Amino acid sequence: MIAEKLGVVARISIRVNPNIDPKTHPYISTGLHENKFGVDIESAKRMYIHAKNSASLDPVGIHFHIGSQITDVNPFKEAAEVLANLVRNLKALKIDIKFFDVGGGIGIQYKEEETVALYEYAQSIFAALGGLDVTLVCEPGRYLVGDCGYFLTKVLYEKHNGYKRFVIVDGAMNDLIRPSLYQAYHAIEVEGKEDAEKSVCDVVGPVCESGDFLAKNIELPALAHDDVLIVKSAGAYGFTMSSNYNTRSRVAEVALENEEDRLIRRREMFEDVIALEKACL
Ligand SMILES: Cc1ncc(COP(=O)(O)O)c(C=O)c1O
Repeated sequence: MIAEKLGVVARISIRVNPNIDPKTHPYISTGLHENKFGVDIESAKRMYIHAKNSASLDPVGIHFHIGSQITDVNPFKEAAEVLANLVRNLKALKIDIKFFDVGGGIGIQYKEEETVALYEYAQSIFAALGGLDVTLVCEPGRYLVGDCGYFLTKVLYEKHNGYKRFVIVDGAMNDLIRPSLYQAYHAIEVEGKEDAEKSVCDVVGPVCESGDFLAKNIELPALAHDDVLIVKSAGAYGFTMSSNYNTRSRVAEVALENEEDRLIRRREMFEDVIALEKACL
């Protein structure tokens, strides 16, 4: 309708939900029928035929993105096979799909887990395409930037409640929500205390939520006020998912370039957090 109103022909791609289990955390699974994303194969076929018959639409692409932090190559392969079959059916209907977008989702190594080998990933997609004449598009996010960022936080104090050791830090779930939201693991290191004796602890923030933690049951050395913890692999879904929850101002971002550091986003002040609020007098 918009293309028709503007008097243009819109080249379109449809995100298809292939109903493949990516075997990742349910909150970052997007390619099953129970997930809200994309359209099922039959609906996609109807949409492509509608687009072909429309004077304002030119269906040129097909797309899937079945989830994030996927560590097994098979779900990618299965999804590519399902969509490649659909492309063949569409070509038989004279709908010439030129762009085949395999989304993102390649998992990174947060701990010691095995993840997807890029060569195997590429080969399995080529095999699924079986010589189809299409341009491949991929959208890796986490894989490119996940390991490029660290989240730094300072120790406020330690608390031992007779059962457990807690390290309370100034960073919190609003700064890095992955552990609270999907029990994600981030390795944590302490600069300068690599050889010290370690014991098990939870690293928790100062927000009034038991879900406010950065790590559970990990081993760290004895820590003192102002020790800096380095939370690793925080370059993806770290700052971008941060919030002002609990009226906390968001952290500064610093880029490292040629061994020089550069402030690329200043720390928020309390005034920034309340800047959009209006007094109701
Ligand atoms: C459509 C689409 N493509 C690519 C990505 C990037 O995913 P990842 O960071 O897991 O590679 C996302 C993430 O939400 C997405 O929704």
